[in-house]
Amino acid sequence: MKNIKDQENISQKKVLLRLDLNVPLKNGLITDETRINKIIPVINFLLEKKSKIIIISHIGRPKGEFNKALSLKPICENIEKKIKKKIKLLDVNIFKLKKEDLFTNTNYEIILLENIRFYKEEEKNDVSFAKHLASFADLYVNDAFSCSHRSHASLSKITEFLPSFAGLQLETEINALKKVTTEIKKPITCIIGGSKISTKIGIINNLIPKFDNIIIVGGMANNIISFKGNNIGKSIREKDCESAIKLIFETLKNHSCKITFPEDVLVGKNLDDKSNIRELNDIKDEDLILDIGPKTINKIKNIIEISKTVLWNGPAGYFENQNFANGSYEIAKAITKKNKMQQIYSVVGGGDTIALINQINAIQDFNFVSTAGGAFLEYLEGKELPGIKALN
Ligand code: 3PG
Repeated sequence: MKNIKDQENISQKKVLLRLDLNVPLKNGLITDETRINKIIPVINFLLEKKSKIIIISHIGRPKGEFNKALSLKPICENIEKKIKKKIKLLDVNIFKLKKEDLFTNTNYEIILLENIRFYKEEEKNDVSFAKHLASFADLYVNDAFSCSHRSHASLSKITEFLPSFAGLQLETEINALKKVTTEIKKPITCIIGGSKISTKIGIINNLIPKFDNIIIVGGMANNIISFKGNNIGKSIREKDCESAIKLIFETLKNHSCKITFPEDVLVGKNLDDKSNIRELNDIKDEDLILDIGPKTINKIKNIIEISKTVLWNGPAGYFENQNFANGSYEIAKAITKKNKMQQIYSVVGGGDTIALINQINAIQDFNFVSTAGGAFLEYLEGKELPGIKALN
């Protein structure tokens, strides 16, 4: 994998730069800027080299449709402030765009294409779409490690049409995760939460042989609670994943790995509600499970206490509402307490998890913070990520 920082002669070259600007937004405002902060170095590097930059990113999951709420505009403004330069946000139809139309205004050295997932061709890894994107530039840089588990046009297919390079942050993340996986100390505990159930449920089975404990919280736990015969009311769940869960429990029989999922939960009637503790057999039809309960927190703390390594991706609850943030905070506190005493090696990953940890100002109390969520888990699984394979 060649890195852009080792390339000579990129001055005046047009560089297609794939970034992950998928940051959390609330009412159009960015609630955590970590992913943006991490890609400022690659932009500054390319600017110093006098390259012309065309940034591609997605935000959210618009599923191939235009969605005003998922515009990259607020992110564009945020980057402009950070680098003190104007960026041209191009919201025209990409199919109508030609290389000669770009950078006609010499005031701009950077163009940001509007959310690439407004085009259904992106997620289909469409060859003509990738070729068209490639026609805008002279070379391609992937500095979106956190998207590299996706076989999408701007991450995978595109590398067939342009000289392609790894970005600065992508290399940092891979090197750190390589180190983590080769020097890892047992007992290893992996905590998986968050709301992207479909991304993660299939991964767990492959993690069982590698870890001593897998703790499942957040949205995915709802599917398991339901699989175990409990009512989960109106809680988020993924359809059709019974066979994936069955497989998890089958695989567990052949390994020493223990799986932990909530024994009690906090529920509300809606996302803005106050919290109520519920036993699993007492969840009502109108309840939304939004956090783990006190018994579960204690159980998790005991597991962290005996672990030498903790890998954490995905919050335990809907931490955006303080009434449902306690489970995630208590997990973070248990890890950072041991980390400060150097009794644990801790890695945390994912956009929401970083946002949560920033809320309690604890980023510096983890050994490594990865911007990646799904990509982080797939890397731990030992998979070759499509975006990385394409660069190789
Ligand atoms: C992430 O947030 O993990 C990346 O931006 C990928 O997003 P996705 O899960 O919607 O593909």
